[in-house]
Amino acid sequence: MQENDGIQEGHHKIPVGMVIFFAALALWMIWYIYRYTPGITGWSQYKVYEKESMAEAQRAGKPLTENPYERDEKAVAEGKTLYASNCTACHGIRSREASVRI
Ligand code: HEC
Repeated sequence: MQENDGIQEGHHKIPVGMVIFFAALALWMIWYIYRYTPGITGWSQYKVYEKESMAEAQRAGKPLTENPYERDEKAVAEGKTLYASNCTACHGIRSREASVRI
């Protein structure tokens, strides 16, 4: 049998702070899963997005679906150039046909 080198397994109590921390995390986890599971509370990222978009549209005083560049010829020409150099490789020349060729 080998001699003990002084290292022993201790029987110390878990610090109260750690127990409280662990319990709080466990409770938070249960609350979080309950709160953000769509099947339980009906929460959904899409609903949140819609709500935030509506709030932003109200704040801006106009619908966000309005395209501010619609009649801006300079922006349209710039967009065509950007599309041609960045998007045509996969989407083709005409964006309306929107074919992804991968
Ligand atoms: C490397 C190839 C590639 C390039 C480059 C690329 N796309 Fe795409 N794009 C795809 C693929 C693949 C999909 C389909 C993704 C899917 O359905 O999950 C897609 C989907 C889209 C969609 C959604 C279409 C739909 O009907 O839902 C839009 C919008 C789009 N791309 C715009 C762009 C724009 C704008 C650019 C240039 C800035 C661009 N893409 C460049 C590969 C590419």
